Amino acid sequence: MELMKRTTGCGALRKADAGRTVVLNGWVNRKRDHGGISFINLRDRYGVTQAVIDEDAPAELKAVTAELRNEFCIALEGLVRERPADMVNPGMDTGEIEVLVKRLAILNRCEILPFQIGDESNAGEDLRLKYRYLDLRSAGMQNRIRLRSEVSFAVREWMTGQGFYEIETPTFIRSTPEGARDYLVPSRLYPGKFYALPQSPQLYKQLLMAGGFDKYFQIARCYRDEDARGDRQPEFTQIDIEMSFVDREDVLSMTEGLMGHVFKKTLGFELPAKFRRLTWEEAQERYGSDKPDLRFELPLRDFSPFAETGDFQAFKDALSQGEADRSAKGNSGGGAVKALVLPAALMGGPYSRKQIEELEAQAKIYKAKGMAWMKVAAGPNPALEGGVSRFFAAQGAAIISALEAGPGDLILLVADPRRNIANTALGAVRSKLGRDLKLTGPGPDGKPRFEFVWIVDFPMFEFNSEEKRWEAAHHLFTWPQEKYHDTMEADPGSVKGDLYDLVLNGVELASGSIRIHDPELQKRIFKIAGFDSAEAERRFGFLTEAFKYGAPPHGGIAPGLDRLVMIMAGETTIKEVIAFPKNSFAQSPLDDSPGKIDQKQLDELHLAIKDENKG
Ligand code: AMO
Repeated sequence: MELMKRTTGCGALRKADAGRTVVLNGWVNRKRDHGGISFINLRDRYGVTQAVIDEDAPAELKAVTAELRNEFCIALEGLVRERPADMVNPGMDTGEIEVLVKRLAILNRCEILPFQIGDESNAGEDLRLKYRYLDLRSAGMQNRIRLRSEVSFAVREWMTGQGFYEIETPTFIRSTPEGARDYLVPSRLYPGKFYALPQSPQLYKQLLMAGGFDKYFQIARCYRDEDARGDRQPEFTQIDIEMSFVDREDVLSMTEGLMGHVFKKTLGFELPAKFRRLTWEEAQERYGSDKPDLRFELPLRDFSPFAETGDFQAFKDALSQGEADRSAKGNSGGGAVKALVLPAALMGGPYSRKQIEELEAQAKIYKAKGMAWMKVAAGPNPALEGGVSRFFAAQGAAIISALEAGPGDLILLVADPRRNIANTALGAVRSKLGRDLKLTGPGPDGKPRFEFVWIVDFPMFEFNSEEKRWEAAHHLFTWPQEKYHDTMEADPGSVKGDLYDLVLNGVELASGSIRIHDPELQKRIFKIAGFDSAEAERRFGFLTEAFKYGAPPHGGIAPGLDRLVMIMAGETTIKEVIAFPKNSFAQSPLDDSPGKIDQKQLDELHLAIKDENKG
């Protein structure tokens, strides 16, 4: 059968097209029969058009129409006509017209659907992923994949406009240490040897700088064998960027320009030219997180001075224990008592004991031993009441004023000998309040809010208390800030790196740093992170070697494309913006991967499976 090729998409026809004969191709979105007249909503990527098979249509046409079911793929030819005024559908782009069908051909039939296509479908995740091609037909998925394509295009447009080259780096490499496990590819030609899939193009982009390509970008696939979460997938995409002869300010302002262009181009949304900045320490102290959601404020405040002079023994103990640990271990920030004021205006009525316990449970997930509370009494002369207030009776007015609290406000308190636990636990309570009280919704103008913030001056090293060693907080190639170069080995915990994260609405969107380009400095970093020189040579020798041949100073950044599109689309998981994602167990219900392989393939790869039944 000859294909009736479409002359127009299903979203294009308007009143001015009345009188034209057109051919449409698409899927039956819905069919309704009204006393001899049939209406078909025909759908394609571009929209939906109503087609009509009139009462007096030829019998043959009526017979084909009778056969149609949802999701049949069809072609039809017909005459565009204006709808009568009372039939106009203002909710539809094509709502002023309909197409009176003259010819109709079934291009392909559709079996009974495993689930109803559409955003109101309540199909479970595995079913949606098994039949992803059906799920992709829904308006929501179509819009999100379109947005993703537009974002990628806008990225390329901006980057090339700024003089960057798009360069591919290999996906079969030697393992790149970025903190996760590698996915490995066994070599057929070299028994017992493996390629690793890159966790990111990090080393190769640095080698491109050594190769003289001073502005590089790539929309790069990355692979990490780590537990999946809402904003993590085993394979994902980065907008990977590297530049030579730059300092931190150059990388930050280039990224601000890129984000500004992408938001303007795809959403028509104007971002500020410069984003807010917080040091890592400020972010921890004020928001209890290195990725604070700044769509709401609810700051953490230091309650330690009041704890010292008050009568609450548990708080005093936390502080003195913290002080003792600090002198003994030399690397702890000491103890802290932190406070968060929940304004009465946000609570919508006083909190019950149960509500407070739920918040405390959240703090405990983040290792707090507990959470204390008190209230500011209502009335003209505010005083503290309830909870632990009796221990602070003498300081009531000073506390209320220092915390800028008002009548009816609830004060939440977390104390811990480890300052970072007090901060992160109360920070987790802050995040829960943000979600529960819907402080993250659209602004007063009804528009979504995009709150970017740079977090700068991260610590270079974190102490791994299980393995009792220092490890790189980001990766091993970050430039330690100059002022720490002489004291790095003596006090790794105090070293700040030229390291920055871009956070959007509480999600870590991008990470980057100025890199080391000096082979000697690089070796010292490897050593602090526990790689002896032989191991460092074996794993990264090719990089340090390149630094010996006049490698330029360089730095870069990598925003996650999936996370960016997820937030732009108002979603909370990146699966919604990836055409074919894995499920939460790193499996693909669509092709049933990972799958077993034949004995022949195993033999060719010189592999034997140790335990077939595991997993
Ligand atoms: P990093 O490991 O912080 O840095 O990754 C950069 C950004 O990539 C995204 N991302 C992910 N997205 C989805 N699923 C994942 N499993 C996942 N892991 C990371 C995040 C993150 O901010 N080479 C360095 C960058 C550099 O220094 O230039 C790197 O990969 O949005």
